[in-house]
Amino acid sequence: GRVRHYKFNVVMKNTTRLCESKPIVTVNGRFPGPTIVAREDDTVMVKVVNHVKYNVSIHWHGVRQLRTGWADGPAYITQCPIQPKGTYVYKFTLTGQRGTLWWHAHILWLRATVHGAIVILPKLGVPYPYLKPHKEVVVVLGEWWKSDTEAVINQAQKLGQAPNVSDAHTINSHPGPISNCLGNGGFKVQVDQGKIYMLRIINAALNEELFFRIAGHKLTVVEVDATYVKPFTTDTILIAPGQTTNALVTATQTAGKYLVAVSPFMDAPIAVDNVTATASLHYSGTVSSVATKLVAPPPQNATPVANNFINSLRSLNSAKYPANVPLTIDHSLFFTIGLGINPCATCVNGSRVVASINNVTFVMPKTALLQAHYFNTSGVFTDDFPSKPLMPYNYTGAQPKNLRTSSGTKLYRLPYNATVQLVLQDTGALTPESHPLHLHGFNFFVVGRGIGNYNPVTDPKKFNLVDPVERNTVGVSSGGWTAIRFRADNPGVWFMHCHLEIHTTWGLKMAFVVDNGKGPKESLSPPPTDLPKC
Ligand code: C2O
Repeated sequence: GRVRHYKFNVVMKNTTRLCESKPIVTVNGRFPGPTIVAREDDTVMVKVVNHVKYNVSIHWHGVRQLRTGWADGPAYITQCPIQPKGTYVYKFTLTGQRGTLWWHAHILWLRATVHGAIVILPKLGVPYPYLKPHKEVVVVLGEWWKSDTEAVINQAQKLGQAPNVSDAHTINSHPGPISNCLGNGGFKVQVDQGKIYMLRIINAALNEELFFRIAGHKLTVVEVDATYVKPFTTDTILIAPGQTTNALVTATQTAGKYLVAVSPFMDAPIAVDNVTATASLHYSGTVSSVATKLVAPPPQNATPVANNFINSLRSLNSAKYPANVPLTIDHSLFFTIGLGINPCATCVNGSRVVASINNVTFVMPKTALLQAHYFNTSGVFTDDFPSKPLMPYNYTGAQPKNLRTSSGTKLYRLPYNATVQLVLQDTGALTPESHPLHLHGFNFFVVGRGIGNYNPVTDPKKFNLVDPVERNTVGVSSGGWTAIRFRADNPGVWFMHCHLEIHTTWGLKMAFVVDNGKGPKESLSPPPTDLPKC
Protein backbone atom coordinates (compact mmCIF):
# COMPACT_ATOMS: atom_id res chain seq x y z
CA GLY A 1 0.00 0.00 0.00
CA ARG A 2 0.83 3.69 -0.15
CA VAL A 3 1.94 5.92 2.69
CA ARG A 4 -0.53 8.69 3.60
CA HIS A 5 0.83 11.68 5.49
CA TYR A 6 -1.25 13.95 7.69
CA LYS A 7 -0.40 16.80 10.01
CA PHE A 8 -2.62 17.42 13.02
CA ASN A 9 -2.05 20.75 14.72
CA VAL A 10 -3.90 20.73 18.02
CA VAL A 11 -5.13 24.29 18.47
CA MET A 12 -7.80 26.26 20.32
CA LYS A 13 -10.64 27.64 18.22
CA ASN A 14 -13.43 29.96 19.24
CA THR A 15 -16.66 28.25 18.27
CA THR A 16 -20.28 29.39 18.40
CA ARG A 17 -23.12 26.93 18.96
CA LEU A 18 -26.54 27.52 20.53
CA CYS A 19 -25.91 31.27 20.27
CA GLU A 20 -22.90 31.15 22.61
CA SER A 21 -19.17 31.12 21.91
CA LYS A 22 -16.38 29.34 23.74
CA PRO A 23 -12.84 28.29 22.91
CA ILE A 24 -12.62 24.56 22.14
CA VAL A 25 -9.70 22.23 21.48
CA THR A 26 -9.60 21.20 17.80
CA VAL A 27 -7.38 19.61 15.20
CA ASN A 28 -6.37 22.19 12.56
CA GLY A 29 -9.13 24.51 13.78
CA ARG A 30 -11.77 22.14 12.43
CA PHE A 31 -14.75 20.65 14.21
CA PRO A 32 -15.28 17.82 13.46
CA GLY A 33 -11.62 17.38 12.60
CA PRO A 34 -10.14 16.38 9.23
CA THR A 35 -11.12 13.05 7.64
CA ILE A 36 -8.29 10.58 7.06
CA VAL A 37 -8.73 8.86 3.69
CA ALA A 38 -6.70 5.77 2.83
CA ARG A 39 -7.02 2.34 1.28
CA GLU A 40 -6.81 -1.12 2.79
CA ASP A 41 -3.17 -2.02 3.57
CA ASP A 42 -1.98 1.61 3.31
CA THR A 43 0.30 3.04 5.97
CA VAL A 44 -0.84 6.21 7.72
CA MET A 45 1.58 8.66 9.33
CA VAL A 46 0.04 11.45 11.37
CA LYS A 47 2.32 14.06 12.89
CA VAL A 48 0.54 15.52 15.91
CA VAL A 49 1.81 18.86 17.22
CA ASN A 50 0.37 20.05 20.53
CA HIS A 51 -0.16 23.83 20.57
CA VAL A 52 -2.57 23.88 23.54
CA LYS A 53 -2.03 23.98 27.30
CA TYR A 54 -3.48 20.49 27.83
CA ASN A 55 -1.80 17.11 27.47
CA VAL A 56 -3.06 15.39 24.33
CA SER A 57 -3.10 11.92 22.80
CA ILE A 58 -5.00 10.57 19.78
CA HIS A 59 -6.56 7.12 19.40
CA TRP A 60 -7.41 5.53 16.03
CA HIS A 61 -10.58 3.83 17.11
CA GLY A 62 -10.94 0.38 15.53
CA VAL A 63 -7.55 0.32 13.80
CA ARG A 64 -6.11 -3.07 14.76
CA GLN A 65 -2.57 -1.74 15.27
CA LEU A 66 -1.02 -5.17 14.62
CA ARG A 67 2.25 -5.09 16.61
CA THR A 68 2.11 -1.27 16.61
CA GLY A 69 0.51 -0.73 20.01
CA TRP A 70 2.77 2.32 20.42
CA ALA A 71 0.47 4.12 17.95
CA ASP A 72 -2.81 3.12 19.61
CA GLY A 73 -3.06 6.30 21.64
CA PRO A 74 -4.90 5.92 24.97
CA ALA A 75 -3.00 8.12 27.45
CA TYR A 76 -1.14 6.20 30.17
CA ILE A 77 -2.11 2.87 28.55
CA THR A 78 0.04 2.72 25.40
CA GLN A 79 1.83 6.06 25.63
CA CYS A 80 2.50 9.02 27.86
CA PRO A 81 0.53 12.03 26.62
CA ILE A 82 1.98 14.56 24.19
CA GLN A 83 2.76 17.51 26.42
CA PRO A 84 2.21 21.16 25.45
CA LYS A 85 4.65 22.05 22.61
CA GLY A 86 5.32 18.34 22.13
CA THR A 87 5.12 16.28 18.95
CA TYR A 88 4.51 12.62 18.17
CA VAL A 89 4.18 10.80 14.85
CA TYR A 90 1.58 8.03 14.88
CA LYS A 91 2.50 5.41 12.30
CA PHE A 92 0.31 2.40 11.56
CA THR A 93 -0.80 0.14 8.70
CA LEU A 94 -4.44 -0.57 7.89
CA THR A 95 -3.75 -4.29 7.42
CA GLY A 96 -6.80 -6.09 6.05
CA GLN A 97 -9.16 -3.32 7.16
CA ARG A 98 -11.61 -1.26 5.11
CA GLY A 99 -14.70 0.72 6.02
CA THR A 100 -15.45 3.58 8.37
CA LEU A 101 -13.50 4.07 11.57
CA TRP A 102 -12.68 7.25 13.43
CA TRP A 103 -10.04 8.98 15.50
CA HIS A 104 -10.45 10.85 18.77
CA ALA A 105 -8.47 12.33 21.64
CA HIS A 106 -7.98 9.71 24.36
CA ILE A 107 -7.32 11.75 27.46
CA LEU A 108 -9.83 13.25 29.86
CA TRP A 109 -12.84 14.48 27.89
CA LEU A 110 -10.97 16.14 25.06
CA ARG A 111 -12.65 13.83 22.59
CA ALA A 112 -15.81 15.94 22.93
CA THR A 113 -14.37 18.22 20.25
CA VAL A 114 -11.22 16.42 19.10
CA HIS A 115 -12.48 13.75 16.72
CA GLY A 116 -12.88 12.95 13.02
CA ALA A 117 -13.51 10.19 10.49
CA ILE A 118 -11.18 7.55 9.07
CA VAL A 119 -12.41 6.38 5.65
CA ILE A 120 -10.64 3.24 4.47
CA LEU A 121 -11.49 2.41 0.87
CA PRO A 122 -11.06 -1.13 -0.48
CA LYS A 123 -7.84 -1.87 -2.37
CA LEU A 124 -7.70 -0.30 -5.81
CA GLY A 125 -9.97 -2.21 -8.20
CA VAL A 126 -11.80 -4.10 -5.43
CA PRO A 127 -15.53 -3.23 -5.44
CA TYR A 128 -17.81 -2.89 -2.41
CA PRO A 129 -19.89 -6.06 -1.88
CA TYR A 130 -23.03 -3.91 -2.44
CA LEU A 131 -24.35 -1.33 -4.93
CA LYS A 132 -21.87 1.41 -5.64
CA PRO A 133 -23.09 4.67 -4.15
CA HIS A 134 -23.25 7.81 -6.26
CA LYS A 135 -21.72 9.74 -3.39
CA GLU A 136 -20.44 9.10 0.14
CA VAL A 137 -21.09 11.40 3.08
CA VAL A 138 -19.41 11.37 6.49
CA VAL A 139 -21.95 11.97 9.28
CA VAL A 140 -20.42 12.52 12.72
CA LEU A 141 -22.86 12.55 15.65
CA GLY A 142 -21.82 14.34 18.82
CA GLU A 143 -22.79 16.33 21.88
CA TRP A 144 -22.31 20.00 22.73
CA TRP A 145 -22.03 21.58 26.15
CA LYS A 146 -22.55 25.32 26.62
CA SER A 147 -20.33 25.22 29.68
CA ASP A 148 -16.65 24.47 29.70
CA THR A 149 -16.13 20.71 29.36
CA GLU A 150 -13.25 20.97 31.86
CA ALA A 151 -15.75 21.99 34.53
CA VAL A 152 -18.00 19.09 33.57
CA ILE A 153 -15.04 16.70 33.91
CA ASN A 154 -14.02 18.03 37.28
CA GLN A 155 -17.48 17.53 38.66
CA ALA A 156 -17.51 13.92 37.51
CA GLN A 157 -13.94 13.03 38.31
CA LYS A 158 -13.05 14.86 41.49
CA LEU A 159 -16.46 14.72 43.17
CA GLY A 160 -17.75 11.45 41.72
CA GLN A 161 -21.07 13.03 40.83
CA ALA A 162 -23.22 12.71 37.74
CA PRO A 163 -22.07 15.26 35.15
CA ASN A 164 -24.32 17.78 33.46
CA VAL A 165 -25.96 16.30 30.41
CA SER A 166 -25.05 17.99 27.15
CA ASP A 167 -27.09 20.93 25.88
CA ALA A 168 -27.49 19.54 22.39
CA HIS A 169 -26.83 16.58 20.18
CA THR A 170 -25.07 17.46 16.97
CA ILE A 171 -24.72 16.24 13.38
CA ASN A 172 -21.33 17.19 11.90
CA SER A 173 -21.04 19.49 14.93
CA HIS A 174 -24.31 21.41 14.34
CA PRO A 175 -27.43 21.11 16.48
CA GLY A 176 -29.45 21.74 13.33
CA PRO A 177 -32.21 24.00 12.06
CA ILE A 178 -34.72 22.92 14.69
CA SER A 179 -32.77 24.25 17.64
CA ASN A 180 -33.61 27.45 19.43
CA CYS A 181 -30.75 29.26 17.78
CA LEU A 182 -30.93 29.29 14.00
CA GLY A 183 -27.53 30.85 13.41
CA ASN A 184 -25.77 27.88 11.86
CA GLY A 185 -28.56 26.26 9.89
CA GLY A 186 -27.44 22.70 10.33
CA PHE A 187 -25.90 20.06 8.12
CA LYS A 188 -27.43 19.53 4.65
CA VAL A 189 -26.99 16.61 2.30
CA GLN A 190 -27.75 17.55 -1.30
CA VAL A 191 -29.31 14.61 -3.22
CA ASP A 192 -30.56 13.88 -6.73
CA GLN A 193 -33.69 11.87 -7.24
CA GLY A 194 -33.11 8.15 -7.86
CA LYS A 195 -29.45 8.13 -6.83
CA ILE A 196 -27.88 6.07 -4.05
CA TYR A 197 -25.90 7.70 -1.24
CA MET A 198 -23.77 6.09 1.41
CA LEU A 199 -23.75 7.63 4.86
CA ARG A 200 -20.71 6.84 6.98
CA ILE A 201 -22.23 7.43 10.41
CA ILE A 202 -20.00 7.77 13.48
CA ASN A 203 -21.22 8.17 17.06
CA ALA A 204 -18.67 10.50 18.64
CA ALA A 205 -21.03 11.52 21.46
CA LEU A 206 -19.54 11.23 24.93
CA ASN A 207 -22.37 9.69 26.85
CA GLU A 208 -25.36 8.72 24.74
CA GLU A 209 -26.49 5.91 22.52
CA LEU A 210 -28.38 7.43 19.61
CA PHE A 211 -31.15 6.62 17.17
CA PHE A 212 -30.78 7.88 13.59
CA ARG A 213 -33.72 8.27 11.16
CA ILE A 214 -34.56 10.14 7.96
CA ALA A 215 -38.09 11.30 7.12
CA GLY A 216 -39.55 9.39 4.16
CA HIS A 217 -36.46 7.23 3.58
CA LYS A 218 -35.29 3.73 4.45
CA LEU A 219 -31.72 2.94 5.41
CA THR A 220 -29.87 -0.18 4.22
CA VAL A 221 -27.11 -1.10 6.67
CA VAL A 222 -24.08 -2.59 4.89
CA GLU A 223 -21.23 -2.26 7.36
CA VAL A 224 -20.59 -1.68 11.06
CA ASP A 225 -17.25 -0.95 12.75
CA ALA A 226 -15.46 -1.42 9.39
CA THR A 227 -16.74 -4.97 8.86
CA TYR A 228 -19.27 -5.92 6.19
CA VAL A 229 -22.69 -7.15 7.30
CA LYS A 230 -25.53 -8.88 5.46
CA PRO A 231 -27.42 -5.87 4.14
CA PHE A 232 -30.76 -5.19 5.82
CA THR A 233 -33.23 -2.36 5.54
CA THR A 234 -34.54 -0.40 8.49
CA ASP A 235 -36.26 2.88 9.46
CA THR A 236 -34.02 3.38 12.47
CA ILE A 237 -30.33 2.88 13.16
CA LEU A 238 -29.08 2.42 16.72
CA ILE A 239 -25.52 3.55 17.24
CA ALA A 240 -23.60 3.62 20.52
CA PRO A 241 -20.66 5.91 21.31
CA GLY A 242 -17.61 4.45 19.56
CA GLN A 243 -19.56 2.60 16.89
CA THR A 244 -19.68 3.33 13.16
CA THR A 245 -22.36 2.33 10.64
CA ASN A 246 -22.42 2.58 6.86
CA ALA A 247 -25.91 2.83 5.41
CA LEU A 248 -27.17 3.25 1.86
CA VAL A 249 -30.03 5.65 1.21
CA THR A 250 -31.81 5.80 -2.12
CA ALA A 251 -33.30 9.18 -2.95
CA THR A 252 -36.73 7.67 -3.61
CA GLN A 253 -38.77 10.83 -3.04
CA THR A 254 -39.50 13.41 -5.72
CA ALA A 255 -38.43 16.73 -4.30
CA GLY A 256 -38.36 18.51 -0.99
CA LYS A 257 -36.43 18.59 2.25
CA TYR A 258 -36.40 15.63 4.62
CA LEU A 259 -35.34 15.82 8.22
CA VAL A 260 -32.45 13.69 9.48
CA ALA A 261 -33.11 13.18 13.20
CA VAL A 262 -30.84 11.97 15.95
CA SER A 263 -32.28 11.30 19.40
CA PRO A 264 -31.00 9.49 22.47
CA PHE A 265 -31.82 5.88 23.32
CA MET A 266 -32.04 5.25 27.03
CA ASP A 267 -33.02 1.75 28.02
CA ALA A 268 -33.24 2.98 31.59
CA PRO A 269 -36.40 4.45 33.06
CA ILE A 270 -34.77 7.82 33.48
CA ALA A 271 -35.28 10.68 31.09
CA VAL A 272 -31.86 12.20 30.65
CA ASP A 273 -32.12 14.36 27.62
CA ASN A 274 -34.55 14.52 24.76
CA VAL A 275 -32.93 17.11 22.56
CA THR A 276 -33.09 15.95 18.99
CA ALA A 277 -30.31 16.94 16.61
CA THR A 278 -31.32 17.50 13.06
CA ALA A 279 -29.90 17.77 9.57
CA SER A 280 -31.68 17.48 6.25
CA LEU A 281 -31.69 15.79 2.88
CA HIS A 282 -32.29 18.42 0.20
CA TYR A 283 -33.43 17.22 -3.21
CA SER A 284 -31.93 19.20 -6.06
CA GLY A 285 -34.40 21.65 -7.49
CA THR A 286 -36.32 22.16 -4.24
CA VAL A 287 -37.40 25.76 -3.65
CA SER A 288 -36.08 27.13 -0.37
CA SER A 289 -39.51 28.05 0.99
CA VAL A 290 -40.71 24.44 1.06
CA ALA A 291 -41.33 23.04 4.55
CA THR A 292 -39.06 20.26 5.81
CA LYS A 293 -40.81 16.89 6.18
CA LEU A 294 -40.44 15.75 9.75
CA VAL A 295 -39.82 12.33 11.24
CA ALA A 296 -40.91 11.29 14.72
CA PRO A 297 -38.08 10.07 16.94
CA PRO A 298 -38.58 6.59 18.42
CA PRO A 299 -40.04 6.61 21.93
CA GLN A 300 -37.48 7.14 24.69
CA ASN A 301 -37.68 3.66 26.17
CA ALA A 302 -37.56 2.05 22.77
CA THR A 303 -35.95 -1.23 23.83
CA PRO A 304 -37.89 -3.27 21.22
CA VAL A 305 -36.70 -0.93 18.44
CA ALA A 306 -33.14 -1.28 19.72
CA ASN A 307 -33.34 -5.08 20.00
CA ASN A 308 -34.79 -5.38 16.54
CA PHE A 309 -31.86 -3.44 15.12
CA ILE A 310 -29.19 -5.32 17.11
CA ASN A 311 -30.66 -8.72 16.23
CA SER A 312 -30.58 -7.87 12.51
CA LEU A 313 -26.78 -7.52 12.50
CA ARG A 314 -24.99 -10.49 10.91
CA SER A 315 -21.52 -10.79 9.38
CA LEU A 316 -21.58 -10.85 5.59
CA ASN A 317 -19.72 -14.18 5.88
CA SER A 318 -19.24 -14.65 2.13
CA ALA A 319 -16.49 -16.69 0.45
CA LYS A 320 -14.51 -13.48 0.04
CA TYR A 321 -15.26 -12.11 3.53
CA PRO A 322 -15.56 -15.17 5.80
CA ALA A 323 -16.35 -14.86 9.51
CA ASN A 324 -13.52 -16.68 11.27
CA VAL A 325 -15.22 -17.24 14.60
CA PRO A 326 -13.04 -19.08 17.14
CA LEU A 327 -14.77 -22.44 17.72
CA THR A 328 -12.61 -23.66 20.60
CA ILE A 329 -11.88 -21.50 23.62
CA ASP A 330 -8.62 -21.26 25.62
CA HIS A 331 -9.70 -18.52 28.04
CA SER A 332 -13.28 -18.33 29.21
CA LEU A 333 -13.90 -15.08 31.08
CA PHE A 334 -16.95 -13.70 32.86
CA PHE A 335 -16.89 -9.97 33.65
CA THR A 336 -19.58 -8.06 35.50
CA ILE A 337 -19.82 -4.41 34.62
CA GLY A 338 -21.66 -1.66 36.38
CA LEU A 339 -21.68 1.18 38.83
CA GLY A 340 -21.02 1.23 42.57
CA ILE A 341 -20.49 3.61 45.48
CA ASN A 342 -17.31 4.10 47.48
CA PRO A 343 -16.69 6.29 50.53
CA CYS A 344 -15.03 9.60 49.78
CA ALA A 345 -13.94 11.95 52.54
CA THR A 346 -13.63 15.00 50.29
CA CYS A 347 -16.93 14.48 48.43
CA VAL A 348 -20.15 16.35 49.14
CA ASN A 349 -22.15 13.33 50.30
CA GLY A 350 -19.19 11.49 51.82
CA SER A 351 -19.37 9.04 48.96
CA ARG A 352 -18.65 8.92 45.28
CA VAL A 353 -20.03 7.05 42.33
CA VAL A 354 -17.57 4.54 40.90
CA ALA A 355 -17.76 2.04 38.07
CA SER A 356 -16.05 -1.30 37.81
CA ILE A 357 -15.39 -4.51 35.95
CA ASN A 358 -15.53 -7.58 38.21
CA ASN A 359 -15.79 -5.16 41.15
CA VAL A 360 -12.40 -3.65 40.35
CA THR A 361 -12.31 0.09 39.74
CA PHE A 362 -9.37 0.70 37.44
CA VAL A 363 -6.77 3.17 38.65
CA MET A 364 -4.91 5.05 35.92
CA PRO A 365 -1.13 4.64 36.26
CA LYS A 366 1.30 7.57 36.21
CA THR A 367 3.29 6.09 33.36
CA ALA A 368 2.21 4.13 30.28
CA LEU A 369 1.41 0.45 30.82
CA LEU A 370 2.82 -0.58 27.46
CA GLN A 371 6.23 0.87 28.31
CA ALA A 372 6.15 -0.74 31.76
CA HIS A 373 5.34 -4.06 30.08
CA TYR A 374 7.96 -3.72 27.33
CA PHE A 375 10.76 -2.61 29.64
CA ASN A 376 9.70 -4.87 32.48
CA THR A 377 9.28 -2.00 34.94
CA SER A 378 7.81 -3.33 38.16
CA GLY A 379 5.32 -1.54 40.38
CA VAL A 380 3.21 -0.02 37.57
CA PHE A 381 0.58 -2.76 37.22
CA THR A 382 -0.25 -6.25 38.40
CA ASP A 383 -1.51 -9.01 36.14
CA ASP A 384 -4.05 -10.45 38.57
CA PHE A 385 -7.25 -9.09 37.07
CA PRO A 386 -9.92 -11.61 38.16
CA SER A 387 -11.47 -13.89 35.52
CA LYS A 388 -14.79 -13.73 37.35
CA PRO A 389 -16.48 -11.24 39.73
CA LEU A 390 -15.12 -10.76 43.25
CA MET A 391 -18.59 -10.35 44.71
CA PRO A 392 -21.45 -12.84 44.29
CA TYR A 393 -23.80 -11.65 41.66
CA ASN A 394 -27.47 -12.25 40.97
CA TYR A 395 -29.28 -9.82 38.74
CA THR A 396 -32.73 -11.33 39.16
CA GLY A 397 -32.42 -11.39 42.93
CA ALA A 398 -32.23 -8.35 45.19
CA GLN A 399 -29.76 -5.73 44.07
CA PRO A 400 -26.36 -6.28 45.67
CA LYS A 401 -26.29 -4.65 49.09
CA ASN A 402 -22.62 -4.05 48.89
CA LEU A 403 -21.88 -1.59 46.11
CA ARG A 404 -18.25 -1.10 47.23
CA THR A 405 -15.51 -1.85 44.79
CA SER A 406 -11.82 -2.48 45.25
CA SER A 407 -9.37 -0.60 43.10
CA GLY A 408 -6.12 -1.28 41.32
CA THR A 409 -4.23 -1.16 38.06
CA LYS A 410 -4.90 -4.79 37.22
CA LEU A 411 -4.35 -6.43 33.84
CA TYR A 412 -5.40 -9.82 32.52
CA ARG A 413 -2.63 -11.76 30.80
CA LEU A 414 -3.39 -13.65 27.57
CA PRO A 415 -0.86 -15.81 25.76
CA TYR A 416 -0.29 -14.83 22.14
CA ASN A 417 -2.90 -16.42 19.83
CA ALA A 418 -5.10 -17.73 22.64
CA THR A 419 -8.81 -17.82 21.83
CA VAL A 420 -10.98 -15.93 24.27
CA GLN A 421 -14.63 -16.01 25.16
CA LEU A 422 -15.73 -13.09 27.28
CA VAL A 423 -19.21 -12.80 28.74
CA LEU A 424 -20.02 -9.26 29.81
CA GLN A 425 -22.81 -9.11 32.36
CA ASP A 426 -24.39 -5.83 33.37
CA THR A 427 -25.20 -5.82 37.06
CA GLY A 428 -27.89 -3.17 36.84
CA ALA A 429 -26.75 -2.11 40.30
CA LEU A 430 -27.42 1.54 41.10
CA THR A 431 -29.02 2.40 37.76
CA PRO A 432 -29.79 0.25 34.79
CA GLU A 433 -27.84 1.53 31.83
CA SER A 434 -26.54 0.01 28.65
CA HIS A 435 -22.73 -0.03 28.36
CA PRO A 436 -21.00 0.18 24.98
CA LEU A 437 -17.82 -1.82 25.68
CA HIS A 438 -14.87 -1.10 23.40
CA LEU A 439 -11.84 -3.36 23.05
CA HIS A 440 -8.67 -1.86 21.61
CA GLY A 441 -6.41 -3.88 19.29
CA PHE A 442 -8.99 -6.46 18.20
CA ASN A 443 -12.25 -7.06 16.44
CA PHE A 444 -14.48 -9.56 18.19
CA PHE A 445 -17.52 -11.60 17.23
CA VAL A 446 -20.74 -10.99 19.15
CA VAL A 447 -21.87 -14.62 19.56
CA GLY A 448 -24.78 -14.13 21.96
CA ARG A 449 -26.78 -11.75 24.10
CA GLY A 450 -29.68 -11.95 26.49
CA ILE A 451 -31.58 -10.30 29.31
CA GLY A 452 -31.16 -11.26 32.99
CA ASN A 453 -28.47 -13.61 34.29
CA TYR A 454 -26.18 -15.39 31.86
CA ASN A 455 -26.67 -19.12 32.15
CA PRO A 456 -23.31 -20.86 31.47
CA VAL A 457 -25.05 -24.19 30.70
CA THR A 458 -27.96 -23.30 28.44
CA ASP A 459 -26.97 -19.97 26.85
CA PRO A 460 -23.84 -21.15 24.98
CA LYS A 461 -26.05 -23.70 23.16
CA LYS A 462 -27.79 -20.75 21.51
CA PHE A 463 -24.64 -18.95 20.40
CA ASN A 464 -24.33 -17.97 16.74
CA LEU A 465 -20.95 -19.33 15.67
CA VAL A 466 -21.72 -19.07 11.94
CA ASP A 467 -22.28 -15.43 11.05
CA PRO A 468 -22.14 -13.31 14.23
CA VAL A 469 -21.48 -9.61 13.67
CA GLU A 470 -17.84 -8.60 14.01
CA ARG A 471 -17.10 -5.28 15.68
CA ASN A 472 -14.89 -3.34 18.09
CA THR A 473 -17.59 -1.80 20.32
CA VAL A 474 -20.70 -3.60 21.57
CA GLY A 475 -23.62 -2.51 23.71
CA VAL A 476 -24.26 -4.63 26.81
CA SER A 477 -27.94 -4.15 27.58
CA SER A 478 -29.13 -2.90 30.89
CA GLY A 479 -29.53 -5.94 33.17
CA GLY A 480 -28.41 -8.20 30.35
CA TRP A 481 -25.33 -9.97 29.01
CA THR A 482 -23.34 -10.07 25.79
CA ALA A 483 -20.87 -12.81 24.82
CA ILE A 484 -17.93 -12.07 22.53
CA ARG A 485 -15.11 -14.16 21.08
CA PHE A 486 -11.74 -13.13 19.68
CA ARG A 487 -8.25 -14.44 19.06
CA ALA A 488 -5.44 -12.73 20.98
CA ASP A 489 -3.30 -12.41 17.85
CA ASN A 490 -1.94 -8.95 18.63
CA PRO A 491 0.89 -8.61 21.16
CA GLY A 492 0.74 -5.55 23.41
CA VAL A 493 -1.36 -3.90 26.10
CA TRP A 494 -4.96 -3.38 25.07
CA PHE A 495 -7.46 -1.21 26.84
CA MET A 496 -11.07 -2.28 27.25
CA HIS A 497 -13.61 0.20 28.58
CA CYS A 498 -17.12 1.52 28.46
CA HIS A 499 -17.32 4.14 25.69
CA LEU A 500 -19.68 6.25 27.78
CA GLU A 501 -17.00 8.70 28.84
CA ILE A 502 -18.50 9.21 32.27
CA HIS A 503 -18.27 5.48 33.04
CA THR A 504 -14.65 5.35 31.87
CA THR A 505 -13.91 8.31 34.13
CA TRP A 506 -15.47 6.46 37.05
CA GLY A 507 -13.33 3.36 36.43
CA LEU A 508 -15.22 1.04 34.07
CA LYS A 509 -12.05 -0.04 32.33
CA MET A 510 -9.27 -2.67 32.39
CA ALA A 511 -6.57 -3.87 30.04
CA PHE A 512 -5.34 -7.11 28.56
CA VAL A 513 -1.65 -7.81 28.15
CA VAL A 514 -0.94 -10.19 25.26
CA ASP A 515 2.48 -11.77 25.46
CA ASN A 516 4.11 -15.14 25.89
CA GLY A 517 7.69 -13.95 25.76
CA LYS A 518 8.51 -16.11 22.73
CA GLY A 519 10.49 -13.62 20.70
CA PRO A 520 10.06 -11.27 17.77
CA LYS A 521 7.39 -13.04 15.73
CA GLU A 522 5.05 -13.03 18.64
CA SER A 523 6.00 -9.70 20.15
CA LEU A 524 5.41 -6.09 19.34
CA SER A 525 7.74 -3.74 17.47
CA PRO A 526 10.24 -1.63 19.47
CA PRO A 527 9.02 1.80 20.65
CA PRO A 528 9.43 4.72 18.22
CA THR A 529 12.21 7.11 19.21
CA ASP A 530 9.81 10.07 19.54
CA LEU A 531 7.45 8.26 21.93
CA PRO A 532 6.44 10.89 24.53
CA LYS A 533 7.80 10.59 28.07
CA CYS A 534 5.78 11.08 31.26
CU1 C2O B 1 -12.80 5.13 21.09
CU2 C2O B 1 -10.51 3.72 24.15
O1 C2O B 1 -11.66 4.48 22.67
